[in-house]
Amino acid sequence: MGGHGVIQRYREFLPVSQDTCIISLNEGNTPLIESHNLVQALGGGFRLFIKYEGLNPTASFKDRGMTLAVTKAVEKDVRAIVCASTGNTSASAAAYASRAGLTCVVLIPEGKISYGKMAQALIHGAKTIEVRGNFDEALELVRELGLRDDIEIVNSINPFRIQGQKTAAFEVCDDLGASPDMHFLPVGNAGNITSYWMGYKEYKDAERIESLPVMMGWQAEGAAPIVRGEIVDAPETVATAIRIGNPASWQLAIEASEESSGAIDSVTDEEILDAHRMLARTEGVFVEPASAAGIAGIVKSNARGEIPQGSTVVVTVTGHGLKDPAIAIDNSAARSVVVEPDLESVLNAIGVQ
Ligand code: F0G
Repeated sequence: MGGHGVIQRYREFLPVSQDTCIISLNEGNTPLIESHNLVQALGGGFRLFIKYEGLNPTASFKDRGMTLAVTKAVEKDVRAIVCASTGNTSASAAAYASRAGLTCVVLIPEGKISYGKMAQALIHGAKTIEVRGNFDEALELVRELGLRDDIEIVNSINPFRIQGQKTAAFEVCDDLGASPDMHFLPVGNAGNITSYWMGYKEYKDAERIESLPVMMGWQAEGAAPIVRGEIVDAPETVATAIRIGNPASWQLAIEASEESSGAIDSVTDEEILDAHRMLARTEGVFVEPASAAGIAGIVKSNARGEIPQGSTVVVTVTGHGLKDPAIAIDNSAARSVVVEPDLESVLNAIGVQ
């Protein structure tokens, strides 16, 4: 049942034994795609690699942590798992719970998760509860539910989630043969930046890499508590995945940015949408808006001259574009046209005679 997922691949770095029954959907091993067009469009003098995490089994990076969290929940013999989510954690939890034969309960902010993510929770049969509130309120409720013995929290406050997600840093280093100089990624609940930093440090301690990257985390301006230094009571952003006002791993994210001499900064919704479109148009890589926050961060840092010439930069794009088709259609420069079913009409529409 273990397959070829991240636990199997990196088991020496993970809290499992030979007897552990691994619950996996063969997550991980996602492509690290070198960008030429985007770097050229930005006039940058650096090498950029895109870690395309939308190609995980449920189309986001959450699967790396979920395989371990669910594996450990089964080991502990709980019947049910629960999470609060902006949509990707719930999609992943629902899928891995199905695989393990567990009940899955998901609490999501009413009307604020994208269509694809809702579809995933429902098709996998999760008990899907829409809370009249935001992600932060849903997470508070989940913390209370987690006090029960028969139900395991699979948000990133569960340390196994962070442990599993750190495998993405291992893959980046294995593919590059070294650590990158800088690593860009979006920040929401701040679990992923924490995971990458843990992964890079562990790989350095194990002498697999010689240096550590500068960690560059990006929040959406309307949901940027870490940047502002205070809880945001009513977070708002087009990037619903990172619409979070009180991140669980706030302090750990600050540690990652400070220890690595990096930063946590913000980008506007407009910058996010521009990056969303630009990445799809220049590189053929389709991501959801939250994932484009890291790309928008590169655009901004490059414009400020903060990316050294000749450096190697990695950006994690966290979720697939098909998660949020409505935004993609709205945000496209292209529009479809409707024609009569004859060649002349088609040629006219193409713009040739
Ligand atoms: N990108 C996407 C696509 C996400 O779904 C998330 C978080 C993030 C980035 C931010 O990662 O929380 O580790 O800082 N999504 C969570 C969820 C909150 O419920 O799916 P983070």
